[in-house]
Amino acid sequence: MKRDAEELLKELCPDLPITKSSKEWIERSEKVIAKTTQSRDIYPVVDHTQGEGPWIYDLKGNQYLDMTAGVAVRALGFRSSAIRDFEQRIQNYLREIPGQDFDVVPQTLLAERLIGLTPGDFEKEVFFTTSGGRAVESAVKSLMDTRHRHRFVAFRPAFHGRTGYALALTASKHAHRDFFPQGLDVVRGPYPYCFRCPFKQHEADCSLECLDYLRDSIECEGIDLAGIFVEPICGEGGFLPAPIKWLKALRKLADDYETPIVSDEIQSGLGRTGKWWAIEHADVVPDYICTAKALGGGFPFGACIGPKPLYTDFSRHSETFGAEPYVALISLSVLRTIERDRLLENAENRGVQLLAGLRDIQENSKIIGDVRGRGLMCAVEIVTDRESNAIDPKRRDEVVANCVKREKLWVLGAGRNAVRFLAPLNITVEQIDLALERFAKAVNRVK
Ligand SMILES: Cc1ncc(COP(=O)(O)O)c(C=O)c1O
Repeated sequence: MKRDAEELLKELCPDLPITKSSKEWIERSEKVIAKTTQSRDIYPVVDHTQGEGPWIYDLKGNQYLDMTAGVAVRALGFRSSAIRDFEQRIQNYLREIPGQDFDVVPQTLLAERLIGLTPGDFEKEVFFTTSGGRAVESAVKSLMDTRHRHRFVAFRPAFHGRTGYALALTASKHAHRDFFPQGLDVVRGPYPYCFRCPFKQHEADCSLECLDYLRDSIECEGIDLAGIFVEPICGEGGFLPAPIKWLKALRKLADDYETPIVSDEIQSGLGRTGKWWAIEHADVVPDYICTAKALGGGFPFGACIGPKPLYTDFSRHSETFGAEPYVALISLSVLRTIERDRLLENAENRGVQLLAGLRDIQENSKIIGDVRGRGLMCAVEIVTDRESNAIDPKRRDEVVANCVKREKLWVLGAGRNAVRFLAPLNITVEQIDLALERFAKAVNRVK
């Protein structure tokens, strides 16, 4: 950390020591920060005062190539010059207008803009939130409020958030759910995890046995459906791109039961896969879209976009900090930058490059069972060996640790045994090549 940054902290907390090393800060954090999703044995303390594009620094000044984009939050990387210049222009604008109780111009413009980006020729509305989970909650409440039903379809694996109704839809790890009573009726269908198809079929010629299974489950458990929640690419559950034919058939199933589809694009949306929304790859029009992460350009921000009216009456739903004008302006600037810098195209092309490179690495490796993805949402699955393809969480953790500690490649796990790649949308050809080079070395270090 730079000296002036340290001075600032001393000024803010004159009674607290500003220790030097990452190790000391980790020990202090362990004492006072609740256990959540930190892996303190792998990641060093991130220097919050520097970073540029895909480059992250630790407190010692080590530089890492970022293939996480903050789990898709930093769509434009760190300190994108477009956003920084824009922030200069609005620095004197008001921030302290919680967006929900009064109308403010940026919020309305952003809603119009998002509706304009969303497929489907029907009247839509937007509800703004401060997180992805809350965008999901907003869709759940909208569906219950307008349809007077409370049975939902969701998949396994699936991740829609960790609180309330969103948690009831989530099913990717038991740790998320153990001992927490679930607040919704959910008919659970198998997600099309084609590499490990529970029906022992192959994607190329299967008859979508998984959707037949879901149909049976609905018929047995209840056809009074309020809605179907689906990630077009299952994220936390292991980076599983749903086959196009599956998404199309899911739309048909939803129509048969006159049930809306909510596309959870909190991780996969806003250009990540080379289109604004991942579900567009299948040409499927969802009824609702939930988005967050990249939407706020680093600020906590989410949105639920759905059919008008989202709610039947005044105060059926609200959230104090939804769509403050400052954040809404930043969000508009993020969308403009994605469009102006043709980042959908870049995400598509760099995704093709990354997948090809990962497949080359797989050729020479015994422990990469599968390589998959769409655009810049890609993953590899780490297995014990290519014959058994047995999942190997221990080796996966070793690969991630090698990437971060040895090769200075910032990556994250997903599911039980995947390593995910979520590069910023403006990543360059050379940076993808470098990431591949470092990843190959990290994989080769595993015995
Ligand atoms: C697909 C999906 N839905 C919902 C969420 C929950 O978002 P948040 O952590 O902002 O509540 C996430 C977070 O990773 C996600 O990936």
